[in-house]
Amino acid sequence: MTMLHDPKRIYVFDTTLRDGEQVPGCQLSSIEKIEIGKALEELGVDIIEAGFPVSSPGDFNSVVELSKAIRGPIICALTRANKQDIDIAAESLKFAKHARIHTGIGASDMHIKYKFNSTREEILERAVSAVKYAKKFVEDIEFYAEDAGRADPIFLAQMVEAVIAAGATVVNIPDTNGYCLPDQYGQKIRFLMENVKNIDRAILAVHCHNDLGLATANTIAGIQNGARQVECTINGIGERAGNTSIEEVAMILKTHHSLGLHTNINSKKFYDISRMVSRMMNMPVQPNKAIVGKNAFAHSSGIHQDGVLKHRENYEIINPEDVGIPRSDIILTARSGRHALKHHLERLGYILERIDLEEVYHRFLEMADLKKDLNDEDILLLMGDGCEKNYIDGVKIKLLQVICGDPFNPMATVKLDVNGQEQEASATGNGPVDATIKAIHQIIGKDISLNEFQIQAMHGGSDDISRVNMRVSFNNRNYDGYGFSTDIVKASANAYLDALNKIT
Ligand code: KIV
Ligand code: ZN
Repeated sequence: MTMLHDPKRIYVFDTTLRDGEQVPGCQLSSIEKIEIGKALEELGVDIIEAGFPVSSPGDFNSVVELSKAIRGPIICALTRANKQDIDIAAESLKFAKHARIHTGIGASDMHIKYKFNSTREEILERAVSAVKYAKKFVEDIEFYAEDAGRADPIFLAQMVEAVIAAGATVVNIPDTNGYCLPDQYGQKIRFLMENVKNIDRAILAVHCHNDLGLATANTIAGIQNGARQVECTINGIGERAGNTSIEEVAMILKTHHSLGLHTNINSKKFYDISRMVSRMMNMPVQPNKAIVGKNAFAHSSGIHQDGVLKHRENYEIINPEDVGIPRSDIILTARSGRHALKHHLERLGYILERIDLEEVYHRFLEMADLKKDLNDEDILLLMGDGCEKNYIDGVKIKLLQVICGDPFNPMATVKLDVNGQEQEASATGNGPVDATIKAIHQIIGKDISLNEFQIQAMHGGSDDISRVNMRVSFNNRNYDGYGFSTDIVKASANAYLDALNKIT
């Protein structure tokens, strides 16, 4: 794909599946990579770095499979500056509709001396030869000048000019060690824009690491000074302290119109893809992570809660719906006021006219003194598991029977009261909960998918109460359900029905 040089367009290069996947414990199967790749395509990224094919047969295979499965974005494979790496990358990309080879070598004196035991002249030659060799296979060649953040700007400019002359279409200026300050990095990009004679024949890319927590700031400084490709990962995952996070960069550009720059990203997909990557890579998202953290739109102090409820923008610069979160979360704590409690009760489906708010508020404060913050399940417990809820008139359980254990195949029979009519179904599953959900689903028959499922014991002990949270989606909207019981199958069925009953 030839990049059209709209001067205000920022190309998004996602490296979740390469730099992100290098994190210990985050390795993915090819199938998982394809699932993430498809989600990245829907998100609207321009380039997907699919792997480092020479590093292992598994990585090679992932690039092959992603090349077959993804037809929109460019598929990119990483190499070092040598023929064998480039041969293998070219082979792995042979099914790609739009292929790019990303080759490169160290540019700082530190890397030249202590990594390659070489000289600037020799490194320059190797860089140029690698680009020329890669160009025999594909038209689109990106060159990375590793550790450019610490490289001498004059030598870096020489290198950039030489690789562009050799055929590089994109030149990546990585701050490999997350060393630069935003103004230093910005000046480095500006220096290249102003001093590399053939710079109009290529795009400069920024690739920042987060060792000092400056990856996003440096990326923004880079594009303010002329770079037009940003290299990022979902949730900012990556080596050590991570890479620049895609959601932060995209939302900065969206929030600050004055920058006059835009991407092709559909930010409404952020929350779902963030959770998908976190789940598949076993990498929790820190609660205070900008944009996608659990607390990113949660307000806990009474003053903020009151302010948000009066006018959301008092305390929110981004509408949570713009990043795929249906609403702001008001966290209830001992400092919360009646306004916030009322808001939660209404959201959970309680009819306020039937409730003595003063009495509930009094009980709420007692509970809040015992527990740091109260979530939806606590409120349901406080209210006696929802006997006043106004939505439990749709579907109710009349009978639930499960058979499971060795050597039986888990099977569930469910009888539901659906708006006054009894309906029954049986299903098998890979466990008693799965069988129960499938049996309920058979009766309901809507195109509902279960996206999140959590079981939590309240106190410990085999006689404990389990609380189950489920999130289902229907017609592109999410619905949360909660269930409580000493029987985890019953708690799960209750949670599923609770969510279904919220679908209007
Ligand atoms: O951080 C870095 O320098 C890299 C290169 C391989 C592009 O990831
Ligand atoms: Zn990197």
